[in-house]
Amino acid sequence: MIFVTGGAGFIGANFVLQWLACSQEGVVNLDLLSYAGTLANLRTLEGDARHVFQQGDIADGPLLAALLARHRPRAVIHFAAETHVDRSIRSPQKFIETNVNGSLSLLGAVHAHWSGLPPEQKTAFRFLHVSTDEVYGALGPADPPFTEHSPYAPNSPYAASKAASDHLVRAFGQTYGLPTLTVHSSNNYGPMQFPEKLIPLMITRALSGGSLPVYGDGLQVRDWIHVDDHCAALRAVLAQGAAGAVYNVGAEEQLSNLEVVHAICDVLDELVPTAAGSYRRQLAFVADRPGHDRRYAIDTARVRRETGWAPRWRFAAGIRRTVASYLEQGAWRAGLASSDYQAWLLAQYGQAGTGAPESDR
Ligand code: NAD
Ligand code: TYD
Repeated sequence: MIFVTGGAGFIGANFVLQWLACSQEGVVNLDLLSYAGTLANLRTLEGDARHVFQQGDIADGPLLAALLARHRPRAVIHFAAETHVDRSIRSPQKFIETNVNGSLSLLGAVHAHWSGLPPEQKTAFRFLHVSTDEVYGALGPADPPFTEHSPYAPNSPYAASKAASDHLVRAFGQTYGLPTLTVHSSNNYGPMQFPEKLIPLMITRALSGGSLPVYGDGLQVRDWIHVDDHCAALRAVLAQGAAGAVYNVGAEEQLSNLEVVHAICDVLDELVPTAAGSYRRQLAFVADRPGHDRRYAIDTARVRRETGWAPRWRFAAGIRRTVASYLEQGAWRAGLASSDYQAWLLAQYGQAGTGAPESDR
């Protein structure tokens, strides 16, 4: 079996679904079900014996030890984290507790489990850490993309906490010989993303008639990768990555936030036209995010060369499919009604109640 943490969240759930679509090997899925995770993301696996779900915290050492002893996984894929930059700016403490202390607890439990394996299984074992390009900080307009050798320069509490967890993963490899892998991915998009991140937030608010809050001048650049491509890269790295190696993963699709929001509006104009005109009229420039990273870009040469992986989605087709998936699926909307999410909208944008589509309110 493989052992996944955070497998009820956006990327983790997409990964579990993709894994079980491609393999008969089972998945133990440990997730706290925080505000960002929901079993609705995994409802198609109900009754599937290959998926063993356990609600719990990566900081819970005894629980980890019991799960590892019972299921004896050959690999751990670590997604669980606090992930939203804006929340990390308002409340950094939680990011240290989960991303740093929680990752340390997990590494400790996995190290103890791995130490007791027979030699062949020890060599084959992998701890795959899912990290982010944000640990490298921000690029200028003409800078080359981040490589695996780019220096760490995290600018948000979120990025700093992920950087700290990366260092712990490296240290467990160097000090104890735990066979680790680390993947730094760029911004993901696709189905089942919690609507606090740019793309699902914009889709949600456009449909509800709310404003589309673009920070600053909207010219910040991100490299957007479809979540299916990221998950495929993780599977490729798990299968072929050399122990101790680090891989940068992205789609080489650099777009400004304005370009992304315009693309979403254009797809909505086509799929859900309104008499009031284009959704672009809802766009509103708002105060910039403090410490806002201007540009991220990823050099994917290493992962392509060493695993043969390449992204399959282009952004134009991927965003179209993504918008359509949010229109089709009701499940992801469950979180919108929560008081936590409404409180977040109020604190961040000064308006509650504009997140949920009219039909859900
Ligand atoms: P998400 O916020 O959608 O999901 C996180 C999941 O972790 C949730 O299901 C949550 O319940 C769970 N979780 C949180 N704290 C936990 C704890 N203490 N114990 C167990 N489970 C816990 O996040 P995501 O976007 O799916 O990101 C997954 C991973 O990928 C994160 O490590 C993130 O840093 C990394 N990443 C994300 C992106 C992106 O664009 N979303 C890009 C690069 C890397
Ligand atoms: P986000 O989805 O939070 O991802 P990250 O900060 O990890 O890149 O934001 C993506 C970009 O969109 C980022 O430059 C911030 C911007 N943004 C807005 O302009 N308005 C918003 O309401 C949000 C949530 C993000």
